Amino acid sequence: FIPPSSGGAGGSVPAQDAQGNPVIASEFLAAHNVGDRVLAQGLKGDPTYLIVDSGDSLRNYGLNAVCTHLGCVVPWQASENKFICPCHGSQYNEQGKVVRGPAPLSLALAHVEVDGKDTVTVAPWTETDFRTNENPWWA
Ligand code: FES
Repeated sequence: FIPPSSGGAGGSVPAQDAQGNPVIASEFLAAHNVGDRVLAQGLKGDPTYLIVDSGDSLRNYGLNAVCTHLGCVVPWQASENKFICPCHGSQYNEQGKVVRGPAPLSLALAHVEVDGKDTVTVAPWTETDFRTNENPWWA
């Protein structure tokens, strides 16, 4: 039995803003700067960082903001170029790779794409985690 998908190919869903509206890529990029990491709702409604790259593009992966220690949402600290968890001090680098515990694992990845209607979509990441060369712990 395969449950009906709420999204398109590969289980992708539209990223949503805080109001629950789909994130429109052109508007999003116009509103943010290179290097910004901006929370949206991704797969299963999980808070997911969308990353703005140079050349007015979105990075092709997003980062699940849920700390792998005990689940706090981890803020991006631009001045430190890291994600730093306010709960117990875990740190993740700019790609979401854990660099300081107590968090045991890196932030989960998700694919990020822009569809033909300029909507930002998020899809499950099931391949190797390029940061660790290991199988994704979240898949
Ligand atoms: Fe993030 Fe504990 S929940 S360090």
